[in-house]
Amino acid sequence: MKKQAMLWTLCAVALFMFALPAAATDYVGSDQCFSCHEGKFNDWQASGHPWKLRKMEKARYSKLPLPPGYSWDDISYVIGGANKKARFIDNDGYIVTTAKDGSEAKTQYNLQDGSWSFYHKGEKKPYKCGPCHMTNYSKDGNQDGKPGMIGTWSEDGIGCEECHGAGGDHIRKPSKENIAIQSSAESCGKCHQRGGMGPEPPAKGGFIRHHEQINELKAGVHKELDCITCHDPHKRAILAKDNCAKCHADVAKTYAENIHGKQGTRCVECHMPKASKSAIKVASYTGDVRTHLFKINTDKDADMFKTIEENGKKSTFAKGFVTVEYACLSCHASRDKAWAAKKAKKFHK
Ligand code: HEC
Ligand code: HEC
Ligand code: HEC
Ligand code: HEC
Ligand code: HEC
Ligand code: HEC
Ligand code: HEC
Ligand code: HEC
Repeated sequence: MKKQAMLWTLCAVALFMFALPAAATDYVGSDQCFSCHEGKFNDWQASGHPWKLRKMEKARYSKLPLPPGYSWDDISYVIGGANKKARFIDNDGYIVTTAKDGSEAKTQYNLQDGSWSFYHKGEKKPYKCGPCHMTNYSKDGNQDGKPGMIGTWSEDGIGCEECHGAGGDHIRKPSKENIAIQSSAESCGKCHQRGGMGPEPPAKGGFIRHHEQINELKAGVHKELDCITCHDPHKRAILAKDNCAKCHADVAKTYAENIHGKQGTRCVECHMPKASKSAIKVASYTGDVRTHLFKINTDKDADMFKTIEENGKKSTFAKGFVTVEYACLSCHASRDKAWAAKKAKKFHK
């Protein structure tokens, strides 16, 4: 399993390197792209990618609360805080894991319900989260000379050039030839993965873990599709194309007559339930991230997860389908799995 994961990672790194133009030019920053690509820029600004990592000077105008005892002057950066959760970095570059006075405290803020969670409580936790939260990451050195910030980068967050390659030549002499477009699922999967890009989505506590979209995709029924078949990569996830009917016309037609179809329940409500978790668990079978497995297993005894023991260490993975308690009970909370399984069989027939 480990070897396979490593192979996937190697393949991905190789793919990624070949996809970029060979002679690297200089990185200029996303602001330089605005004048000629205003529409793309505005879409991107409204999505999560640029906000993944923000300097205090920008983040202080957000409405985020701070961990106990902290003021904005004690914070150098905010991680996330655009979608599910925010974590905070102190002036030495370490992720905040205690109250300001060192006492025990919850330091991860959850946006959806305004709650706080423990995050590596009391540990000295460097910000070693590259290359997934920034642009043009190098693992050498310390950003801003802060000892806790591991590695350096040219722009906080996922800027245009993280996906399109360095844009120096392009802004000086714009042409299609000197800027890259990477459209494979693997180019997104280098960040939207955990433990490699293979079809083994790691799971914990009854949920698939977050940032595993490519693992889920490869484990499920849409393994041949690219992310951009359904996503405009500049836009928020909720603006994903509602294109299920384009490829599943027969089902979409009968679905229109179903009680759910009639009241406008979207395909994703059952086929992409929130069986993954980033910040919080909303109910027994409802996390806060939609899964990309799509297939529903209607067996009342089906288990979504498998546990594997390797070198005495147990690890849990999702299998490649969602089971009915995840697909149905978020809305039918007063029912149980056996009811859902019975009603789910031959759903579209
Ligand atoms: C001075 C204007 C200008 C600036 C600044 C500029 N571009 Fe472009 N860009 C263009 C033009 C012109 C094209 C070619 C359009 C065509 O031929 O259809 C283009 C095309 C592109 C394409 C499409 C390439 C393809 O193969 O279709 C991408 C991606 C792109 N630019 C990204 C960027 C990024 C990223 C930045 C900032 C680093 C940027 N551009 C800055 C003018 C600009
Ligand atoms: C350098 C790492 C990286 C790459 C490459 C990357 N992403 Fe992301 N993506 C992230 C991170 C980190 C977030 C979370 C941002 C946040 O919510 O603050 C994210 C968030 C998203 C979201 C949710 C955005 C929202 O606000 O709703 C979508 C959709 C997405 N990515 C799709 C893609 C696609 C498609 C590609 C490939 C074309 C891609 N990503 C490439 C790191 C990356
Ligand atoms: C998460 C990765 C990602 C980020 C960040 C990103 N792009 Fe793109 N961009 C893509 C991909 C992938 C495509 C090809 C989309 C397709 O073919 O459907 C693309 C296409 C484009 C195109 C060509 C569009 C067309 O319709 O021909 C332009 C221009 C562009 N991007 C500019 C930008 C600019 C400017 C930024 C920053 C403000 C940016 N992109 C940020 C991944 C990204
Ligand atoms: C392999 C790439 C990768 C690494 C390494 C990584 N992340 Fe992320 N992270 C992501 C992606 C992709 C997302 C968004 C998609 C998702 O959550 O499913 C995300 C989401 C987040 C969010 C939520 C953002 C929001 O706006 O809601 C936070 C906070 C976060 N990560 C913190 C961290 C911290 C802290 C570290 C290092 C200790 C880390 N991540 C390491 C890829 C990564
Ligand atoms: C670009 C075409 C395309 C799009 C868009 C698409 N699918 Fe699919 N889907 C496929 C293909 C191809 C398969 C695999 C067919 C097979 O295994 O027989 C598949 C398989 C499935 C399956 C499993 C079928 C089975 O036999 O068990 C489900 C469920 C599904 N898709 C749901 C969706 C939903 C929901 C959406 C929208 C969010 C969607 N699909 C969007 C092409 C697509
Ligand atoms: C078959 C279509 C399809 C494919 C392929 C696909 N997605 Fe999605 N994705 C969606 C839809 C639909 C949503 C949910 C939109 C909503 O909530 O309304 C979504 C949601 C997301 C989210 C936000 C999840 C959440 O609830 O926070 C991220 C991040 C994401 N996709 C990234 C990716 C990445 C990366 C890939 C490729 C590895 C990918 N997607 C492939 C259709 C797709
Ligand atoms: C997004 C919310 C949502 C999800 C997810 C959902 N349903 Fe429903 N369902 C509804 C609503 C709303 C009604 C209409 C209730 C009414 O009119 O009494 C309904 C009605 C029904 C009915 C007919 C009324 C009854 O209680 O007998 C059945 C059967 C049913 N759903 C089965 C399922 C199954 C099976 C799944 C999972 C595969 C599912 N539903 C997933 C919202 C949902
Ligand atoms: C209320 C829940 C629910 C909604 C909403 C829903 N489905 Fe399904 N879908 C199911 C269940 C349950 C199955 C599994 C049936 C089985 O295996 O007997 C299924 C099966 C499928 C299959 C596999 C082939 C088949 O005919 O069984 C496809 C493809 C599919 N759905 C696509 C869609 C599309 C496209 C939409 C939106 C137009 C949609 N579904 C909306 C519950 C739902």
